[in-house]
Amino acid sequence: MKKKETQLPGVVDSRSAFAESCRALRTNLLFLEEHRVRSIMITSALPNEGKSVVAANLAVAFAAGRRKVLLVDADLRNPTQHKCFDVDNTVGLTQALRRPQSSENGAPEIIVQQTRPGLDVLTSGPLPAGPSDDLASDAMIRLVEFVKTKYNLVIFDSTAVLPVTDALVLARHVDGIILVVRAVHTRSEQAGEAIKQLRRANTNLLGVVLNSVNARKIAARNGHYHGAAP
Ligand SMILES: Nc1ncnc2c1ncn2[C@@H]1O[C@H](COP(=O)(O)OP(=O)(O)OP(=O)(O)O)[C@@H](O)[C@H]1O
Ligand SMILES: [Mg+2]
Repeated sequence: MKKKETQLPGVVDSRSAFAESCRALRTNLLFLEEHRVRSIMITSALPNEGKSVVAANLAVAFAAGRRKVLLVDADLRNPTQHKCFDVDNTVGLTQALRRPQSSENGAPEIIVQQTRPGLDVLTSGPLPAGPSDDLASDAMIRLVEFVKTKYNLVIFDSTAVLPVTDALVLARHVDGIILVVRAVHTRSEQAGEAIKQLRRANTNLLGVVLNSVNARKIAARNGHYHGAAP
């Protein structure tokens, strides 16, 4: 019988290993603040690698670390952050990009939803006809610059790099990118091709997150190679 995949809910228990890994990732990313990286995009080579759960739980980890965080669902094809945080998605990013009235700095006015102290979410809004055109628009560029002035960190959930251009378009507007690679699911050539495309687009790839790793197997393997502690 085929083993059923463990369903990981959007935001995991803060005591879980996944949440602990997200806190470790947060610690590794804290140096970014010194380098003025205030907006990061989470992407992957292929769909279904865990971008959205990593984005959601990383946002929770930063907010728990007393940062003011905005999580933007910029996956305008298969948005899921409203489900992760169980919030309404009738108003979100796509309407903001079309709203005639503007907030300060000429940026589109956004309606965010506070999900917990320190963490606001801007959901996708209704799906547009041309997602990459929305992400490439001047309104999007102004929005990214505006939200960076309001939050310590803005995390963008996005689509995968290889099937559509959306992530490469958005990647040009943000300060840094994290690539999620799902162990076993993604071949190294596919991850390599995504990295090549991100580099070619002149974007700032900060690092790679390996998702769905069987930590017990790795510990056992390390024990085998290096000798377990007595
Ligand atoms: N480490 C993990 N352990 C178990 N399940 C996981 C893990 N990471 C992701 N999942 C599950 O895999 C599925 C895909 O995750 P997610 O929606 O975050 O991927 P995605 O890359 O955002 O997908 P899409 O390309 O469709 O946006 C979800 O059901 C999620 O709960
Ligand atoms: Mg997703």
